Amino acid sequence: MCGIVAYLGEKQAYPILIAGLHRLEYRGYDSAGIAIINGNLNYYKRKGKVADLEKFINGRDVKGTIGIAHTRWATHGEPTDENAHPHFSQSGNLSIIHNGIIENYRTLKEELVRRGYIFTSQTDTEVLIHLIDDIKKNEKVDLVEAVRIALNQVVGAYAIAVISRENKDLMIAAKKGSPLVIGIGENEFIVASDATPIVEHTNKVIYLEDEEMAILRRGEEIEIKTIKNIQKTAYIQELEISLDALEKGGFDHFMLKEIYEQPHSVNECMRGRLYPKKGIVTLGGILNHEQKILNARRIIMVACGTSWHAALVGEYLIEELLRIPVEVEYASEFRYRKPIIYEDDVVIAISQSGETADTLAALKLAKSKGATILGICNVVGSTIARETDAGIYTHAGPEIGVASTKAFTAQVTILTMIAIRLAFKKGRITQSQHQLYLEGLESIPSKIEEVLKSNDLIRKIAYEYKDARNALYLGRGINFPVALEGALKLKEISYIHAEGYPAAEMKHGPIALIDAEMPVVVIAPLKGIYEKVVSNIEEVKARKGNIIAIVTKGDTQVRALANHVIEIPDVDEIFTPLIATIPLQLLAYHIAVMRNCNVDQPRNLAKSVTVE
Ligand code: AGP
Repeated sequence: MCGIVAYLGEKQAYPILIAGLHRLEYRGYDSAGIAIINGNLNYYKRKGKVADLEKFINGRDVKGTIGIAHTRWATHGEPTDENAHPHFSQSGNLSIIHNGIIENYRTLKEELVRRGYIFTSQTDTEVLIHLIDDIKKNEKVDLVEAVRIALNQVVGAYAIAVISRENKDLMIAAKKGSPLVIGIGENEFIVASDATPIVEHTNKVIYLEDEEMAILRRGEEIEIKTIKNIQKTAYIQELEISLDALEKGGFDHFMLKEIYEQPHSVNECMRGRLYPKKGIVTLGGILNHEQKILNARRIIMVACGTSWHAALVGEYLIEELLRIPVEVEYASEFRYRKPIIYEDDVVIAISQSGETADTLAALKLAKSKGATILGICNVVGSTIARETDAGIYTHAGPEIGVASTKAFTAQVTILTMIAIRLAFKKGRITQSQHQLYLEGLESIPSKIEEVLKSNDLIRKIAYEYKDARNALYLGRGINFPVALEGALKLKEISYIHAEGYPAAEMKHGPIALIDAEMPVVVIAPLKGIYEKVVSNIEEVKARKGNIIAIVTKGDTQVRALANHVIEIPDVDEIFTPLIATIPLQLLAYHIAVMRNCNVDQPRNLAKSVTVE
């Protein structure tokens, strides 16, 4: 997602726009730009953060009382100066900022290229401004009508603001599927992706509905109509929440916001890739490397932290479904232990930030030995993404909280899609099993929604264990990595020592730790070797451990043994990590909050470890 902000009024636009971009930077921060009209249409746009843009603009001409600005989270085209917004018509008269995805941009672009339009970027947004310009010229209509006609040709999501060098008293805003708020001030309008750039100027706002457009004329009342040309009444609402709360979307912390974003982020991860009705899952990013993977002697996964846990889930998925050996390596170990790497190895680097130094070094080492390198990253155009031969972006949106949550479920979703697609391609699963997996995966966002409803119960459980000094997390099979991930979440934000262990391995040492003070979290879905997990729970209970069990809805056997149960919906075993992780994220979050820890920026940690 990106952040857009625009101003039309009596004040100088620049200070309002740049402050607005800073407020919106949590929505995306790989490039930013501004365009302001003051006789000319002056614009400045750069790869990098808003602060980099600000530094670049320093001293340049930013006079003007109408302008648009944008901070980008790349979806089409890497983060570069050219791909940064705003984008411009060929004449340079028209300028646009956009948050969303124009799904039919290729078709529109082909026709515009045929008509002689020259593109300077790889973005879908540039297609829209050329389309508006083309309509304005050929249909001989004004800018408002040209925007309206163009939006009727667009398939996808947009929140836009459009201005013209030829009319400094007019701005057009419109939305469909992406958020847009219009602040109504004294002879001024502020358009933004959310209210954070608006709240210090006015508390009067209008939220456009999908397929509505707002025509803003200097010194006049706002006009609203639909893209079908139906006039609409403007309903002005009053903002009542604080700026800080607004940036977090009303949540107390980015981490909680991102936990709750997971139905959406997992959906975004599958968008354009998973088509159960057509019986296919396609991963364009690695299409040309599928045979390499299928013929691989082995697959090596290199990652750190939470991404390493996702890689472990990938190992279970790929070995079970594809029967190809997988080795999961801590990148920091792999890079120095002189590993044996063959040319027919496929190495997959997994990284949310795409900047983790150890993971980057590990993949460079493998590349130097001739292995095929694939990437699973969240940040478009990141260093790791650019170093790989091919890869898949998770499209989870910016993850601000240092503790990784939605990135983990997105990484696991990608690995699950890879395993399902290639298992079917290799003939390891039948058509009907394949179809069941596709439909099962499609239902995961709603299953996560269901688990999020246990938040109050989880908060109550957290209260009982907020003063624990240690914790043990147990899981078996594909949920052993989930136990590791749950332990990492707890220790990195609440500073309680926690260990994840294979449930059966607990007998070989950690069982000595168990006493009435020790919370033991057990992932015990009614799957696979469930009975064995029940035995492990009994071993803990016999030593007075406090058992918090993650169980399949309706479970009675574990319920009879545990101190607390958190139910998750019944899903195929391969999907259990996507569901069982959610309660563990919430448990860690609530315990950390109750311990007054800095949940979004825990002590000693950084969001991206770009040093060894
Ligand atoms: C996880 O919550 C931590 N923030 C940390 O372990 C993180 O997963 C690790 O540093 C890897 O980061 P990356 O995914 O950006 O490479």
